[in-house]
Amino acid sequence: MAKKLLYVVCNPKQDSNASRSQQIAEAYIDAFKEVQPDLIVDKINLFHAGEDLVPEIDEDLIFARAGLSFRGLKFEDLSPEQQRKYKNHVACCDHFIDHDFYVFASPIWNLGSPHYMKKYIDNLFANGKTFIAKPDERRGLLTGHVQHIQTRGGTYSTGPLVEFESGDRYLKIAMEFMGLTYQPVIYAEGLDHNPRQAPEIVAAAKEQARKAAIELATSTKGE
Ligand SMILES: Cc1cc2nc3c(=O)[nH]c(=O)nc-3n(C[C@H](O)[C@H](O)[C@H](O)COP(=O)(O)O)c2cc1C
Repeated sequence: MAKKLLYVVCNPKQDSNASRSQQIAEAYIDAFKEVQPDLIVDKINLFHAGEDLVPEIDEDLIFARAGLSFRGLKFEDLSPEQQRKYKNHVACCDHFIDHDFYVFASPIWNLGSPHYMKKYIDNLFANGKTFIAKPDERRGLLTGHVQHIQTRGGTYSTGPLVEFESGDRYLKIAMEFMGLTYQPVIYAEGLDHNPRQAPEIVAAAKEQARKAAIELATSTKGE
């Protein structure tokens, strides 16, 4: 059966020519497809996905989740609006699970990922489905590989900001919590602080992305 890759873009820019993280991610996906040409690629841009695909965990959803999980409510007990939102919430998680590889492309914004990333991840944490957490046991239930491509205006790999990078760090924690194998982040940094070097920095990151994709695609081919 053909393998599936989910390409998750977390960026308001819809034109990838205007977005360096998306250009690097596309280089990664193109290289992956050279090795696994049957790969199916699904794409979601979290800024543009809308409430039906990535619902906000609002009061209705909190009530529905808690009611069904802990308070003995049945689906029919929920209001039509709560039912609709709950179905979308479950579908968002099921869509995520239905993939073998994940590529996230995001810029760093104010030390973390843009907030739509957290909104998305809040839909993926499902006890008993994506992880098990009990007082004496914690286990991720998903299998698959995650590659995060992150662009940074400043520099976080060395210098005074090293401790402050929270976008990749949180994504790694969340993905590993759910059992996924997290590949080392591919970043292009210093893009805004060194604009003249930016094209070179992006080109180097694309090359790194190509290599990483070919390596993972080769090692998982035929699995
Ligand atoms: C709202 C906002 C906040 C940002 N915050 C940071 C930051 O905290 N650290 C940093 O290095 N760059 C920051 N940047 C710069 C972006 O990370 C950088 O321009 C990145 O290359 C954008 O990626 P893109 O070309 O894929 O959109 C910020 C940019 C925006 C728009």
